[in-house]
Amino acid sequence: MKKVNVGIIGLGTVGGGVVRTLIDKQAIISDKAGIAVSVVKVFDSDTRKARDLHIPQGLIASDAREVIDDVNIDILVELIGGIQPANDIIIGALCNGKHIVTANKALIASYGKELFEIAEQLGCSIGFEASVCGAVPVIKILNESFSANSIQLLYGIVNGTSNFILSRMALHHCSMKDALKEAQARGLAEANPKLDIDGGDACHKLCILAMLAFGKFVKPGEVYVEGIRQLDLQDMIYAKDWGYDIKLLAVGKRISNSLELRVHPTLVPADHLITSVKGEDNAVFIKGDMIGESMLYGKGAGRTPAASSVISDIMDISRNIGLSGTSSPFRIRKTEGILKIADIGDLVSRYYLRFLTIDEPGVLAAVSSILARNKISIATVSQIARKQGQAVPIVMLTHEAKESAMNKALKVIDRLPMVKAKTVRIRIEK
Ligand code: HSE
Repeated sequence: MKKVNVGIIGLGTVGGGVVRTLIDKQAIISDKAGIAVSVVKVFDSDTRKARDLHIPQGLIASDAREVIDDVNIDILVELIGGIQPANDIIIGALCNGKHIVTANKALIASYGKELFEIAEQLGCSIGFEASVCGAVPVIKILNESFSANSIQLLYGIVNGTSNFILSRMALHHCSMKDALKEAQARGLAEANPKLDIDGGDACHKLCILAMLAFGKFVKPGEVYVEGIRQLDLQDMIYAKDWGYDIKLLAVGKRISNSLELRVHPTLVPADHLITSVKGEDNAVFIKGDMIGESMLYGKGAGRTPAASSVISDIMDISRNIGLSGTSSPFRIRKTEGILKIADIGDLVSRYYLRFLTIDEPGVLAAVSSILARNKISIATVSQIARKQGQAVPIVMLTHEAKESAMNKALKVIDRLPMVKAKTVRIRIEK
């Protein structure tokens, strides 16, 4: 039987799962891949990790270079995350003719184009299934199963930590702070959860999905991003009364020759399939010209779900090596006529608005006349409490309006003397 040798750099949560599975299930993985797949070298800068994983001493490298330069290694698996030194490790391994498997969403989102070009020139492939939504095979499905489609829309719950926080707030009526503490206690959120709750992680994943769905390389800075940090429980409760849940969505939408890319808290109808995605689970809803609507659902993170996707990439590449001696590079499709990323100001959306205003005659008239001047039409309005002369919330749903007009209107409204706090604005998705 032919043989494929694998080297792994990074033995954290995912790397640990990958190396143990490859060792423990070697026979079955090799059988399914049709070629013997063996781990021959691993490295982590924290030497305790290899020991804790009971990795045979002979497989442990003393530095990353030993793995990158090992001529016997066919596939290098990079699982350290972040931009550097991951980028140098991958480029070094590609230059040595190795195929790559990675779960590194920040790197693929930021430098995927450059890495795929290098890989293509050198005839190597890069597997990155685990970079988006853990065990959910969305990369493969967009790249293979749905490849005949023109994708019109995708939106995803792609950050498990924020979905856990929002689900917990909705279920237990607790604050964002308490829900975050619980996520941290369960080991979901990082000690510094910035990337999760401020939308950065979802933005990286959206860049990768956009590349696959719309054939457009997008840098994280081109995506409009708003996280969940400012979300208040009362908005979840008011939204619920009107038949909506609030989810952090990563949205990619084709509007003629431009592409909307945005990550933000969103009101979604409570009976939409995607609102059934609770806790740390992930899902991606996709609309294509041939498939109609489809939703992929599953575990978005964690040791074994992410390891499952990493190993499936290793097996794919191994299978190709077994069949043809090599594995063909990942090829991005043409941009399908998408010329630009839409400006968020050009977005046309319905909105949820919560004003905090003094309860006195004429307030609603003042607010609605400013909205009217900016061509924003009100669909529903409700004043939540009656406290004459004191501040009360007024909650509103609007018809479709332009984001730039909404910005203009809210700027004026928030300066009115009877408006006592910055107005909360949440976009609505059908
Ligand atoms: N931190 C991510 C999440 C998991 O909460 O979904 C890794 O992508």
